[in-house]
Amino acid sequence: MLDPDPSHQVLPQVTSPESALLGVVDAVSLETPAEMYRESFLVGATAFVAEKRLESTYAPFLGYDVHRLRREFGTFVWDLKQLADDSRLHSSGYRDHVFWLIDDGEYIGQTSIRPELGTPYLITYGGHIGYSIRPDRRQQGYGRRILSLALDECSRLGMDRVLITCDEDNMPSRRIIEANGGTFESGLTMDRAIRRAEGRKSEKDIQKLRYWIELRDRRR
Ligand SMILES: CC(C)(COP(=O)(O)OP(=O)(O)OC[C@H]1O[C@@H](n2cnc3c(N)ncnc32)[C@H](O)[C@@H]1OP(=O)(O)O)[C@@H](O)C(=O)NCCC(=O)NCCS
Repeated sequence: MLDPDPSHQVLPQVTSPESALLGVVDAVSLETPAEMYRESFLVGATAFVAEKRLESTYAPFLGYDVHRLRREFGTFVWDLKQLADDSRLHSSGYRDHVFWLIDDGEYIGQTSIRPELGTPYLITYGGHIGYSIRPDRRQQGYGRRILSLALDECSRLGMDRVLITCDEDNMPSRRIIEANGGTFESGLTMDRAIRRAEGRKSEKDIQKLRYWIELRDRRR
């Protein structure tokens, strides 16, 4: 039953300026991983498996396949959150804050923010932010949106500017970075050892493009 006192009613958040202008309620937000998103996460994970990209969810890195995710989802969520723990600064050189993009209660994608570029790989090829949208929800503007929300989060974490990288042939990602104000710095060829370490089988040279986004302006 609705609470008759308007001050007690929780109103949906309007988070996009475009939506606010149009008076449209927008239920898209970044949330810390939680067990309540289990069902839609598993649908997304299955779609990532089909395109051989489950690593976008960090599951393989943490030792999970889809079967183990189904069995031990709560532990997976806990493991993901541990990546942001301060103790990781000593063991790995950086923390990784993982957020899920949620629309209307449903898992849509993931972004990870690494405030410290604490390894040679991160400072050269990885950058501060990674993101992915589950395959069955692409080309609907979520990619552009997840980076915009991740930049707000970086601002909250006190970061002044962020490095974002993408493969030269990843046109959607390039468009997302440029739409969010990315300034191109340089392109680097990834050597074979690095390609292998990323789990890439291709023998083809890959160009990584490096972009910077200033966050000071967003705080004004
Ligand atoms: C890259 C990725 C996040 C894009 O997500 P998305 O939700 O499809 O992105 P958007 O809908 O916001 O689209 C961004 C732009 O790319 C275009 N685009 C997206 N997919 C496209 C495709 N397959 N072909 C052509 N254009 C495409 C969109 O039309 C849009 O163009 P616009 O700027 O003219 O509007 C998604 O493809 C993904 O998760 N890929 C795997 C992981 C990855 O590559 N992450 C990035 C690492 S740097």
